[in-house]
Amino acid sequence: MKIISVVGARPNFMKIAPIIEAINIHNKQLKRFEKNKHIEHLLVHTGQHYDENMSKLFFEDLEIPRPDIDLNVGSASHAFQTAEIMKRFEPILLRHKPDYIIVVGDVNSTIACSLTASKLGTKIVHVEAGLRSFDRTMPEEINRVLTDSLSDILFTTEKSAHRNLLREGIKEEKIFFVGNVMIDTLIKHKEKASRSNILTKMGIRERSYSLVTLHRPSNVDVRDTLEGLLCAFKDMSQNHPVIFPCHPRTRERIKAFKLMDYINRKDNGKVSEGINLCDPLGYLDFVNLMANARLVLTDSGGIQEETTILGIPCITLRENTERPVTVTEGTNTIVGTDKEKIVEKSYQILNGHNIKGRIPEFWDGKASERIVKVLMNAVYE
Ligand code: UD1
Repeated sequence: MKIISVVGARPNFMKIAPIIEAINIHNKQLKRFEKNKHIEHLLVHTGQHYDENMSKLFFEDLEIPRPDIDLNVGSASHAFQTAEIMKRFEPILLRHKPDYIIVVGDVNSTIACSLTASKLGTKIVHVEAGLRSFDRTMPEEINRVLTDSLSDILFTTEKSAHRNLLREGIKEEKIFFVGNVMIDTLIKHKEKASRSNILTKMGIRERSYSLVTLHRPSNVDVRDTLEGLLCAFKDMSQNHPVIFPCHPRTRERIKAFKLMDYINRKDNGKVSEGINLCDPLGYLDFVNLMANARLVLTDSGGIQEETTILGIPCITLRENTERPVTVTEGTNTIVGTDKEKIVEKSYQILNGHNIKGRIPEFWDGKASERIVKVLMNAVYE
């Protein structure tokens, strides 16, 4: 069996890493008479994210093999970027003729490669299928719905996803509830992350700070919304500094909207009162910062899941989530972007009102192993 896996943007790397590892383990465990079950695997990086600390650092931290093929598409408008990935991915499929492509998550690279494969009749495996925010203004929601409708095998992380897919008319036999590959990676690297010296480097103690990430267009491309969010962070950071590893687009927006006055200007790398911006961090440093935070505020999808496993309270700065299990079972609260509500909820948590969660079903570090088993059954039984 020949498989091409696709990564493009930062949140893809931690999802593909354990799948590649599970494929390698599968190959190693084959008996001599089972050589026909060998999986030949190629990794394609579209280059959607290309900055050292948005891409290369993750390959190092997660020990992902170097991509076999790099499409180097870089940044552009959604249409341009999607089309460019398709143009560059098509010859790869024609040359290598894989039996399956594996795509993960909901970024532009996910839909671009799925669409290319579907036109050539290559089977598509979607990992993290079925999540729905029911908000079609999010580019990721469009990517999810379209990728799922094209996929031949759909792996889900939570039960809500299964229901969503059935409602959209996807046949039940194509859907497999296997758990969460991002959590496979977290469980594997937690111990190593705990040895990161990022707190010492930043001069901060555990549980004495909040951690913020922000990059959704709806939050950072509208001046009033971004200002309201920065205002809320500033308000809650007087006794409790905010650490804000900043996505390149967010930093660019803060500057363009002339909102730098909200940011703590001391630039010696040490955290002090107020909002402390820093460059995006590698995986191990970021997990360490999350695990030791008093509170995490984010508009990311994956961070809602990771904080649930780490048992750290998470405030989601969006009006909805496609990952409802993080609210019903985890430590996540959907608060939206209203300044007063964010400050109120943050103070509740900072003052000790803790949110206790439990670990969702199958978020146990073994999702990738289940994925490889299902793939082998699909092909050989
Ligand atoms: C993308 C995903 C989003 C995911 C996020 C994680 C889509 C539609 N969005 O959003 O779902 O949560 O990645 O980070 O696929 N840029 C750089 N360096 C880079 C990459 C981007 O400077 O390495 C800047 C560029 O100005 C670029 C902008 O960030 O135009 C946006 O990048 P893009 O990949 O289009 O979307 P993200 O906001 O990163």
